[in-house]
Amino acid sequence: MARPRTQYVCQKCGAVHPKWMGRCPDCGEWNTLVEMSPAPTVRAVGLAGKPGAQPVPLPAVAAAEVTRWPLPIGEFARVLGGGVVPGSLVLVAGDPGIGKSTLLMQLADRMAGPDFPVLYISGEESLGQLKMRADRLGLHNPHLYLLNETRMDALADHIQGMRPRLVIVDSIQTVYVEEIPSPPGSVSQVRECAVRFQAMAKNLGITIFLIGHVTKAGLIAGPKLLEHIVDTVLYLEGDRYHAFRLLRSVKNRFGATSEVGVFEMRGDGMAEVPNPSELFLAERLIQASGSAVAVTMEGTRPLLVEIQALVSPAPPGAARRTANGVDPYRLLLLVAVLTKRVGLRLHDHDLFVNVVGGLRVDEPAADLAIAMAIVSSARDRPLPPDMVFIGEVGLSGELRAVGHMELRLAEAAQLGFRRCLLPRTARRLREIPPELTLLPARTLAEAIAVAF
Ligand code: TYD
Ligand code: MG
Repeated sequence: MARPRTQYVCQKCGAVHPKWMGRCPDCGEWNTLVEMSPAPTVRAVGLAGKPGAQPVPLPAVAAAEVTRWPLPIGEFARVLGGGVVPGSLVLVAGDPGIGKSTLLMQLADRMAGPDFPVLYISGEESLGQLKMRADRLGLHNPHLYLLNETRMDALADHIQGMRPRLVIVDSIQTVYVEEIPSPPGSVSQVRECAVRFQAMAKNLGITIFLIGHVTKAGLIAGPKLLEHIVDTVLYLEGDRYHAFRLLRSVKNRFGATSEVGVFEMRGDGMAEVPNPSELFLAERLIQASGSAVAVTMEGTRPLLVEIQALVSPAPPGAARRTANGVDPYRLLLLVAVLTKRVGLRLHDHDLFVNVVGGLRVDEPAADLAIAMAIVSSARDRPLPPDMVFIGEVGLSGELRAVGHMELRLAEAAQLGFRRCLLPRTARRLREIPPELTLLPARTLAEAIAVAF
């Protein structure tokens, strides 16, 4: 057999190149290529197709039925498409300290039972530390086993011997294979271990959750590299100064992506938030200028969020624009439209825009709410407290229709809003909640005239 050739792997994006280069052509980063032995072949880890497979005509193929183990944490189940799929490998990624270990320990505890042993493997914390967390969370399930181990071979032996139904690996960056000289957490270790976990999950029909840290310096040897190997990728996001946590699926071989679960980090663990809009609007001041409520979509779920803007005089020639939770480019665009199409004087003012609760709003549907918050602050006049704003703003100042209008309107009505400013083109709606008055506008200028 020919000797496998050395390859060069970018430590930033995980791209593989046949020769060394100063700059990775895939991600453009300098000095990130490192020499490595090639990844194990699928044959070596037992993932190759069954020998002698034959082509089959399409109608004769039976559809695969995805079995799911029920997951008693509703917000988590929603993100996974209803439950945990046996034989799958799931990556849960997020910043250090965001609550990954907490959430997955709760998951492990809720799933474990007499016929469903669960193994939580930690290379990050000692058994004593894990016990402290379990106590804090009030967990004492006798079918949940803890293991402090980082050597892949030893881990695999335990899994083979104990046959848990569910395994949590905290974190993939601490596990290592002894034959590979590079340290745990390096690209080659992470990749090798993930491929082995994948094979283990498939061969034993068990589900393995891998926890992965996103590092400050980028995604070194982390989630990006693993996305191709695992079946499902979930990101746990949030702002460490706020209690809200969003669990978002970005890849799912067994369900829809872009589904979001909402949690709140409390003193005794992560609590589900079944009505997130209520929580995000809880602290709103009704008569404050510079505040507008947007109705955004997170996956298939509408979410009402408060957008705040503050416009204040700036020193000559030094006006700043600061965006928190909205795309800074989008904000500049809205400022330009407000200046040019509405005649709002912003060039000698600082502008701060903030999404309350540490949320990120990337949807153009929030444009109108952002613009209205800015106008409200610039004029120092509050918007009507029972009004929500939905719509994308175009470069000519026109309001553009957005999707999922019925869902958004229903959510706004349910939370007690009575009026909705929206693009005129969104007229043909099938279900309009009776308590909600629609105020269609063609342009941003028209919308401003209606709201004030
Ligand atoms: P952790 O789950 O350890 O985060 P990760 O595994 O993503 O690094 O949780 C980190 C933070 O959460 C820690 O600063 C303490 C806090 N915390 C709570 O607020 N409530 C809790 O019940 C627990 C266990 C932790
Ligand atoms: Mg942790």
